[in-house]
Amino acid sequence: MPYKLLFVCLGNICRSPSAENIMNYLIDKDNLSDRILCDSAGTSSYHIGSPPDRRMSAAAATKLGIKLQGRARQFQKSDFQEFDLILAMDQDNYQDILSLDPTGQYHHKVHLMCEFCSQHTLKEVPDPYYGGTEGFNQVIDLLLDACDGLLQHIVSKP
Ligand code: 4NP
Repeated sequence: MPYKLLFVCLGNICRSPSAENIMNYLIDKDNLSDRILCDSAGTSSYHIGSPPDRRMSAAAATKLGIKLQGRARQFQKSDFQEFDLILAMDQDNYQDILSLDPTGQYHHKVHLMCEFCSQHTLKEVPDPYYGGTEGFNQVIDLLLDACDGLLQHIVSKP
């Protein structure tokens, strides 16, 4: 059974699709695609069905040479069972996810993405939506660091 990761932000058009695609890029490089599967979702319904934001896609193309794939969907309760690890981009996403698990039985699966950073000290992946190009570039830098750490964490599991 592959290990399943779900990346979650607010809209599922900027941060979480970037995390999903960067993680897949690292997984492919290490030939681990039969062992780890990735998906992403948003806590909101705002952008259901939309492709990644073009400013986010431009940053991913410029900085990493990757094309962001996927369409936005909303996080749903069944994701708690479906996925092994759920990575929230910021504290709001984290709390919104946990609020859908009132008994706390899946609490152990939910983590903040920045827990896995080793080169950056920020505790959240900042929402780039209302900002400029630099914010989108920063998202890519942070996520590359976090995805590296996350991959090491997964492959070092017994
Ligand atoms: P994301 O960014 O959560 O990283 O996808 C956002 C996308 C859309 C909105 C906010 C953040 N919005 O308010 O529509």
